[in-house]
Amino acid sequence: MTPQLNARGDVAVLVPAAGAGVRLGPGGPKALRLLAGEPLLVHAIRRVAAAASVRQIVVAAPAADVEAVRLLLAPVAPVTVVAGGAERQESVALALAVVPADVAIVLVHDAARALTPPSLIESVAAAVRGGLPAVIPVLPVVDTIKEVGPGEVVLGTVDRSVLRSVQTPQGFRHTVLAAAHAAAGDPLTDDAGLVEKAGLPVTCVPGSDLAMKITRPLDLILAEALLHVT
Ligand code: CTP
Ligand code: MG
Repeated sequence: MTPQLNARGDVAVLVPAAGAGVRLGPGGPKALRLLAGEPLLVHAIRRVAAAASVRQIVVAAPAADVEAVRLLLAPVAPVTVVAGGAERQESVALALAVVPADVAIVLVHDAARALTPPSLIESVAAAVRGGLPAVIPVLPVVDTIKEVGPGEVVLGTVDRSVLRSVQTPQGFRHTVLAAAHAAAGDPLTDDAGLVEKAGLPVTCVPGSDLAMKITRPLDLILAEALLHVT
């Protein structure tokens, strides 16, 4: 039986899944690539659907795969599937367009962060519910970061203590995300970046190692090992 979402929940989760997965190498759209025999998107949606305050899930699928994704996810969770766009931001905007106005909180999540635990989805939502307009999960930066110039010559060492590595889901008051997207100028900025440009505070909460983004072939191997941690 398909698990139900919480009809009294106050959260919609947008899951952009329309990317090509170029950095993962040949093998079709990344969201449909297999991890332990199941598409990344199935792993991701199962975890989103398990988060207690989620009322609606909207997936932006590759345009050619919308029907296939509907069939794929039907047994996993009740989801709305729309065709995504050429850039991630466009896919997010297309998904956002089908969220009803009475949903107070909207989270934007990457299908590529397929192992993100329900607890992280809930902690981001809770921070928005507590009054913050925009919330992002982050991890400390572990590597030393250098600024370089021409010829790969080091110009200086960046102070790592003020840097954060940003994950998803990024959480927003619905009105804040809608206004930021309506004003969007730079298609390569992430959702929190759009809100920053609008002059609103974006607040960090602790992220999770399990919310790693599956980007390159090595990440699939790491994710397979992490499956047994969850
Ligand atoms: N995404 C999307 N629409 C796009 C581009 C990306 O919905 N036009 C989604 C991806 O499916 C992914 C998330 O945004 O879940 C993060 O993008 P990324 O990790 O860069 O995935 P891809 O764009 O698929 O990978 P690549 O950049 O290697 O091609
Ligand atoms: Mg990409």
